[in-house]
Amino acid sequence: MPDAVMTKTNAAQGAGSAMLEVRDLHGFYGESHVLHGVSLDVRQGEVVTLLGRNGAGKTSTMRAIMGIMGKRTGSIRFQGQQLIGMAQHKIPRLGIGYVPEERGIFSSLSVDENLTLPPVVKPGGMTVPQIYELFPNLQGRGSTQGTRLSGGEQQMLAIGRILRTGANLILLDEPTEGLAPVIIEQIGVAVRALKARGFTIVLVEQNFRFAATIADRHYVMEEGHVVDMIPNDQLAQNMDKLHTYLGV
Ligand SMILES: Nc1ncnc2c1ncn2[C@@H]1O[C@H](COP(=O)(O)OP(=O)(O)OP(=O)(O)O)[C@@H](O)[C@H]1O
Ligand SMILES: [Mg+2]
Repeated sequence: MPDAVMTKTNAAQGAGSAMLEVRDLHGFYGESHVLHGVSLDVRQGEVVTLLGRNGAGKTSTMRAIMGIMGKRTGSIRFQGQQLIGMAQHKIPRLGIGYVPEERGIFSSLSVDENLTLPPVVKPGGMTVPQIYELFPNLQGRGSTQGTRLSGGEQQMLAIGRILRTGANLILLDEPTEGLAPVIIEQIGVAVRALKARGFTIVLVEQNFRFAATIADRHYVMEEGHVVDMIPNDQLAQNMDKLHTYLGV
């Protein structure tokens, strides 16, 4: 099944043009084999989602890309460089930013301190004023402590601080989880603005109504591999299939 999916994908975008190219990726937590041959491509400037039920392997795919996993086999190429076998600390320095589901905000630090903590890895990152412009909710909150932020504000801060580093591929794990509709809408506005600025984004999302408003393509994962790829403009005619995949 993944082979058929990749053939379709390559035909759609031309082989070799991907910024991120994942092939037959297997991943393990200790003895537990959780990724079973993930293959996907992300082109420069795209917003791509990973959809799938709980436990499908979406987070593990992001962790495998970042090297935060015991053992990985297969191939993960970012701008031509092979990430399998690369030391974990080198991967962010290539320009890949990861915003994990748990956000990782330092509660004892202020908004400004959180924003400026991750090291700049490449030129071209956004400035702190530009980040405040992108997330107006954070504007004027620079000296507020991390714990005093709402869930939505913490999510904005978690995304914002990655943008300063110069990373040009951003991996976002369930940025809308548990947030109110009005905040989800604001995150959507920000993701669209980032796409317009040229960022490339991979987004894990349970809420595909939200995903449909921002993504170019959707990869569907089941049991540790990609089972389908649906271009956003073909979402409507694939809704029944998607409901079956996601069990909703
Ligand atoms: N630290 C871990 N140790 C062992 N197994 C794990 C670990 N983290 C996840 N798993 C297992 O790996 C599989 C994939 O989990 P993963 O978290 O990648 O799924 P997911 O698609 O992100 O799910 P969710 O929608 O619940 O976030 C699951 O079977 C899960 O139980
Ligand atoms: Mg997950």
